[in-house]
Amino acid sequence: MLNEAPLLESWYREYLNFSDYDISSSGVEPYSFKEIRHITGISTQDLDEILIDDSASLGSQDLRLAIAERYLDGDFDGVMVTHGSSEAISLVLATLCEPGSRVVVTDPAYHALVNFPLRNGCDVRRLPVSLIENGAFTDQIREIIRPDISVVIVNLPNNPTGTSLSAEGFDELIKAVTDVGAYLVCDEAFSEITYNDVTLPNVRFRYERAITFGTFSKVFGLPGLRVGWCTADPILLHRMLPIKDSTTLLWRICIFWTSGSLSMKIKFSGVARTAACAGC
Ligand SMILES: Cc1ncc(COP(=O)(O)O)c(C=O)c1O
Repeated sequence: MLNEAPLLESWYREYLNFSDYDISSSGVEPYSFKEIRHITGISTQDLDEILIDDSASLGSQDLRLAIAERYLDGDFDGVMVTHGSSEAISLVLATLCEPGSRVVVTDPAYHALVNFPLRNGCDVRRLPVSLIENGAFTDQIREIIRPDISVVIVNLPNNPTGTSLSAEGFDELIKAVTDVGAYLVCDEAFSEITYNDVTLPNVRFRYERAITFGTFSKVFGLPGLRVGWCTADPILLHRMLPIKDSTTLLWRICIFWTSGSLSMKIKFSGVARTAACAGC
């Protein structure tokens, strides 16, 4: 079972490029280059100047800063840019989930969030999202997040159910995790696509053992860019570098957001030549 590829990806290999209609995707409709150029005001001449260069392993400094300005009050030391949030998931869980350690994961969950701890030989316990009532987990959460748990992995809003917590319910979850001292890993792939729920506040300001994942793939409609990130204590980010250094580097693009969840400004390294020359 553990050696089998995730069902979702096996299914995609068979059908994704051969179907007329795709109703399986979990992100907003992807943008074309033309649309992105229109939104961001990038000219074709700007595109011609793009330098196809790679960046340092934590990501280019200006992209880390742009992410930090949006989510971390500018603290770019706590940001690592990754090849989609999938890479962030694999790096964080490879680092935190040791064989035999007890790990709690929301259920259901995106396959990688469960499969990494299982493959690493962890004792994986489920935290059913069906325990969420009126925006908060019921008291049963305390029976699941016990003192022997070392990592709690949540995905809110949850894929595939869309379930999320209220701000108060999120506070209670954070309290349950801080009380046992576990790492709190929050997959925020869908954090800015809520309709009736609030966008949950950044847990990094509340708990030093909190880690978040973000991505351009879902809310921003740019899955093919393969740009995601992880925010964490810089010491933990550096613990991941030995694995990261032997796998991926990223294209040196920098992306700036403006107001509104879907409007952002993308600048490529060639365009930001001055910044790049300044050591970004
Ligand atoms: C909850 C969740 N996290 C992470 C990912 C990975 O996305 P990406 O690697 O494109 O950032 C997905 C993709 O479907 C997802 O649904």
